[in-house]
Amino acid sequence: MTNNQLTESGRLRHFLTIEGLKRPLLTEIMDRAEQFSSISHQQVKKVPLLRGKTIVNLFFENSTRTRTTFELAAKRLSADVMNLNINTSATSKGESLLDTLHNLESMQSDMFVVRHNQSGAAEFIAQHVAPHVSVINAGDGCHAHPTQAMLDMFTIRRHKQHFPDLRVAIVGDILHSRVARSQIQALAILGVGEIRVIAPKTLLPTDCQSLGVHVYHDMEEGLQDVDVVIMLRLQHERMQGALLPSAREYYKSYGLTEEKLRLAKPDAIVMHPGPINRGVEIASTVADGPQSVILEQVTHGIAVRMAVMSMTLGSQQEQEGQA
Ligand code: CP
Repeated sequence: MTNNQLTESGRLRHFLTIEGLKRPLLTEIMDRAEQFSSISHQQVKKVPLLRGKTIVNLFFENSTRTRTTFELAAKRLSADVMNLNINTSATSKGESLLDTLHNLESMQSDMFVVRHNQSGAAEFIAQHVAPHVSVINAGDGCHAHPTQAMLDMFTIRRHKQHFPDLRVAIVGDILHSRVARSQIQALAILGVGEIRVIAPKTLLPTDCQSLGVHVYHDMEEGLQDVDVVIMLRLQHERMQGALLPSAREYYKSYGLTEEKLRLAKPDAIVMHPGPINRGVEIASTVADGPQSVILEQVTHGIAVRMAVMSMTLGSQQEQEGQA
């Protein structure tokens, strides 16, 4: 896929993928999110940065965390937000994606936040929008989920500060996970010391080694001395055919229990992008335990999404100023 998300001066015009981005830009997103996170603790949780802008949430796939935190982020930046319900929209009467898009554009929208089950959908939309419109990828098929990766990096930085010193393990269904793909790219760009993936062979992409990760099939081995454990959900909706033994067998081999977590460093943090499946990939005692930062990830999603929205629409304003 082409990386056409930057302006000529290297600013974010769209946010479609982590791939190809440079470390200073990822650091800028986290620094800006750091500033925005304090707004959530004020009595009036709003700044006027995007006043007068119209943001449309276009979710063609289900979501709890991403859609609501994008909406809150936009509202905290004082933008007007519209949530298109795809099930009750004219898309269900056969209108094409591009026709829906052009109709929404004609309402003077400034940004589309897009989730779609097809890899490349956000990039396709970005290629067809008017020059003043920004597109943010809120998850496309198995391809990318860049704001999730950035909120995960922000959470890691809050707890661990120095990326090169870290050993990070990502466990579970790597093959179908857009989150894992974006996380691996972000961790590599930020210079993380060692990135491990832990999964059965059937849940790993064939090009896994080329991603610059260390592959483990044995969870006890892979968790040794890691600083961060990222658990993933089994993405049954994207699986074709039987890739797994029973859920019970999977939990026995790849479920994160307190006993297995003791193999990681004593101060290791446990992360999960959600939705979590208790007793399938993670024990409740771990998900709710003292090392879990799972709900903190959700909180940080608001500040990180505020950062990305303000940067993309800010670069548009910069360009308009130069024109
Ligand atoms: N992590 C994540 O994308 O969650 P939702 O599917 O609830 O948005």
